[in-house]
Amino acid sequence: MAGPYDLIVIGTGPGGYVCAIRAAQLGLKVAVVEKRATHGGTCLNVGCIPSKALLHASELYEEAGHGFAGMGIEVSPKLDLAKMLAFKADGIKGNVDGVAFLLKKNKIDSYTGTGRILAPGKVSVTPEKGEVVELETKAIVIATGSDVAKLPGVEIDEKRVVSSTGALELSKVPSTMIIVGAGVIGLELGSVWRRLGAKVHVVEFLDRILPGMDNEVAKQFQRILSKQGITFQLGAKVTSLKKDKSGCKVRVEPVAGGDATELAADVVLVAIGRVPYTEGLGLEELGVALDNRRRIIVDDHFATNVDGVYAIGDVIAGPMLAHKAEDEGVALAELLAGQAGHVNYDVIPNVIYTYPEVASVGKTEEELKEAGISYNVGKFPFMANGRAKVNRTTDGFIKVLADAHTDRILGVHMVGPHVGELIAEAAVIMEFGGSSEDLARTCHAHPTLTEAVKEAAMAVQKRAIHM
Ligand code: FAD
Ligand code: NAI
Repeated sequence: MAGPYDLIVIGTGPGGYVCAIRAAQLGLKVAVVEKRATHGGTCLNVGCIPSKALLHASELYEEAGHGFAGMGIEVSPKLDLAKMLAFKADGIKGNVDGVAFLLKKNKIDSYTGTGRILAPGKVSVTPEKGEVVELETKAIVIATGSDVAKLPGVEIDEKRVVSSTGALELSKVPSTMIIVGAGVIGLELGSVWRRLGAKVHVVEFLDRILPGMDNEVAKQFQRILSKQGITFQLGAKVTSLKKDKSGCKVRVEPVAGGDATELAADVVLVAIGRVPYTEGLGLEELGVALDNRRRIIVDDHFATNVDGVYAIGDVIAGPMLAHKAEDEGVALAELLAGQAGHVNYDVIPNVIYTYPEVASVGKTEEELKEAGISYNVGKFPFMANGRAKVNRTTDGFIKVLADAHTDRILGVHMVGPHVGELIAEAAVIMEFGGSSEDLARTCHAHPTLTEAVKEAAMAVQKRAIHM
């Protein structure tokens, strides 16, 4: 029996590795258990990082083909997909190696294998080959993340019927691609393959894309993606899928009833959400309570109903986002070290890294209406921003929602160039409980896209200058 440790973290995704490092910084003796060969979890290995590498490379490829000539730069880009995938692999390696280095630097013991909780304070590690190891610890953190949600009756082979993992690895650009689900993964990876030459068709169950995002932003974003060539079939569900030599045949039915159609595609991407991953942990035997979506139930301090067992990240409730998992990791480590860790769930930004980007933080208009909160709206289009105009990146707008009585900012929603970066200032001002007037009276550099944020805040008081 190795140890004893103060803390064992199972899973080294953004939640787990960050929790381990913060706990070690605070003087705890920490070990991590990871079943993958590399650290970094879904995010670094098959999620955030590889998808952003392909989004970046494919955006530049498209820009070189269509945007450069307008600026007087004549080039004829040629796609070398194998090299683009190698660029992505290199980006993953840099990131996962970085996490391994940080764990070592913080003197965290690392065990490779599947972690199982034998009892409070006892964890076993089963490697693919070799002996099972048993470890002793005061506290255990479950940070085992999430897995792809399956479509009933549809088998994912990661070649022709793929999840996000297979869609990051296609060795050939499909001529046609059907995407099931107009959520974040569908739209990000759909954008990648459309830019590289695929004809992309999205089938979505609901009558809108991006559920949960501000409706007006989602509508404008859908129009922009349609202009780029992605086609949408909303209010439709896939009822069966057959594979033959020529590709996939997908049967699609309107949700409201009516005739089914059959669509053909080389590749089908199933992107209908993710589910918490709790297999092999021994939770049933231990009696850890799960909710009706199989998420681990925790209290405000990330404690489960079993003493000494905690959980963070995708495996508990809340948005399945890397930065949410990281912040929970930090807060829990601080709580375990006797400090006051806390996550403000009202201010968690959400970004979609397409072109243009979509970003939001705080409440949507729909949520404010439902809660009966009266609010003022300020909007500003990128068309009226000098920098966007000169760069010819004028699609999109920014919307600031402020409390009608106090002027406190309750939500900010954006679609446009680089809004994934612009959203940070909205998050900071909201974290400090700032008002639209605070934002409007803060000097912003000219000419920058950030001026659009300031002008949207000025528009709340109906005093935007450039509109
Ligand atoms: P994970 O990152 O899933 O890590 C869990 C780890 O636990 C895994 O490495 C797993 O191998 C390990 N594990 C599981 N069970 C055991 C066990 N019993 N023993 C040992 N190890 C175990 N989020 C963003 O914020 N921004 C993005 O741009 C973004 N892009 C994404 C793109 C894609 C294609 C996908 C799929 C997801 C993306 N996400 C993004 C979501 C993000 O990846 C997750 O929210 C995040 O990884 C959750 O972190 P986590 O630490 O909870 O779990
Ligand atoms: P999602 O929840 O974002 O979207 C799934 C979509 O599929 C929804 O629009 C839903 O209505 C639809 N859907 C569900 N069942 C369907 C069916 N049978 N037929 C047709 N449509 C159906 O899930 P997604 O895109 O798989 O991503 C999973 C999670 O990963 C996200 O929720 C997000 O938390 C995370 N992620 C974050 C990214 C980012 O921050 N940029 C990027 C990629 C993933």
